[in-house]
Amino acid sequence: MTVPTLQLNDGHSIPQLGYGTFKVPAEETERAVSEALEIGYRHIDTAAIYGNEGGVGAAIAASGIPRDELYVTTKLWNDRHDGDEPDRAIEESLTKLGLDHVDLYLVHWPTPAKDNYVHAWEKLVGIRERGLSRSAGVSNFLAPHLERIIAETGQAPAVDQIELHPRYHQAETTAVAARRGVLIEAWGPLGQGKYDLASLAPIADAAAAHDRSVQQVTLRWHIQRGRIVFPKSVHRQRLQENFDIFDFSLTDAEMAAIDALDEGDAGRVATHPNDLN
Ligand SMILES: NC(=O)c1ccc[n+]([C@@H]2O[C@H](COP(=O)([O-])OP(=O)(O)OC[C@H]3O[C@@H](n4cnc5c(N)ncnc54)[C@H](OP(=O)(O)O)[C@@H]3O)[C@@H](O)[C@H]2O)c1
Repeated sequence: MTVPTLQLNDGHSIPQLGYGTFKVPAEETERAVSEALEIGYRHIDTAAIYGNEGGVGAAIAASGIPRDELYVTTKLWNDRHDGDEPDRAIEESLTKLGLDHVDLYLVHWPTPAKDNYVHAWEKLVGIRERGLSRSAGVSNFLAPHLERIIAETGQAPAVDQIELHPRYHQAETTAVAARRGVLIEAWGPLGQGKYDLASLAPIADAAAAHDRSVQQVTLRWHIQRGRIVFPKSVHRQRLQENFDIFDFSLTDAEMAAIDALDEGDAGRVATHPNDLN
C-alpha cells in the first residue's frame, strides 16, 4: 500500500500517514516502531518530551531502511525556547535519534505567557538553514500565534500540528493555516481514545457501510480533508488497521456528515495552548 504524500510550502514532501509515539513507553518504543516500519509506515512522529527518541533511533538503525525513505519529526520542548537552547536541544535529539538531520522540527507549544515563541521560531528557521532539519514547523499554535510569527519573521511554518478530531475541528486555526499555505497535522486524530467514536452516528454508519472500523473511517476522513495524521497504538493489529485506509473512500455525504460533528471548543479533549506555559 502506498501512502500518499503532500507537498509542503518549502518544496519538501511529507507522507500523509505516519506513526505517533506520544505515550509509547521508552522500553516499548523500539519494538513498536520496528513493527510500524515492517507494516510499511515510513513517517514517525516523536518529541524530546516523550522520552523515546532513543527507541525511535534504535528501530530506524535496526531496520536498514535507507534514510531518504524515512520521514522523522521531533519537537522542541517548552523550557528550551530561550537563547541558544534550541540549538542545543536539536543536537541532543539528533544524537538520541542517531541521525544527522530530522525531516521536520517543531516548536512543540507556543507557551504564550512567556512570550518567547517568536524567538523559538526564528531559531528553528536557523536550524533548518543549517540543514539539521529539512523543514521547520510549529505545534499547538492558534491563529494569532501563526499570524504573529509570519508577520514578525516573514517565514511561514511548513505545518501546524494541532489537536483535531471528529468533535473538534479548530475552524479558525485551520482557516488561517490554509490562507498561509501551512498544512495541518491533526494530533489526537482518534480523539486520543477519550470518547467513543462508535457513539457518533455518521462514523458508525460509514463504518458499517464500508465494513471498516470506526477508527479507519475517522482516519480516512482526515486524509480526504488533506490533513496529515499519525495515530498511536502499541498494538500491532491496530497499527495494521490504521495503515489500511487507502483502499476505500468516504462519499461526499459521509464526509459532510462527519464535518457536522464539530462541537467547537467544547469538543477539545486536551490542554488549551494558552494554558500550557
Ligand atoms: N503536538 C502535540 O502537542 C501532540 C499532542 C498529542 C499527540 N501528538 C502526536 O499525535 C500522535 C497521535 O495522537 P495521540 O496518540 O495523542 O492520540 P490518538 O492517535 O488519537 O489515539 C491514541 C489512542 O487510540 C488507541 N487506538 C489507536 N488505534 C486504535 C484502533 N485502531 N482501535 C482502537 N483504539 C485505537 C490507542 O490505544 P493503544 O495504544 O492501546 O492501541 C490510544 O489509546 C501522538 O502519538 C503524537 O505523535 C502531538
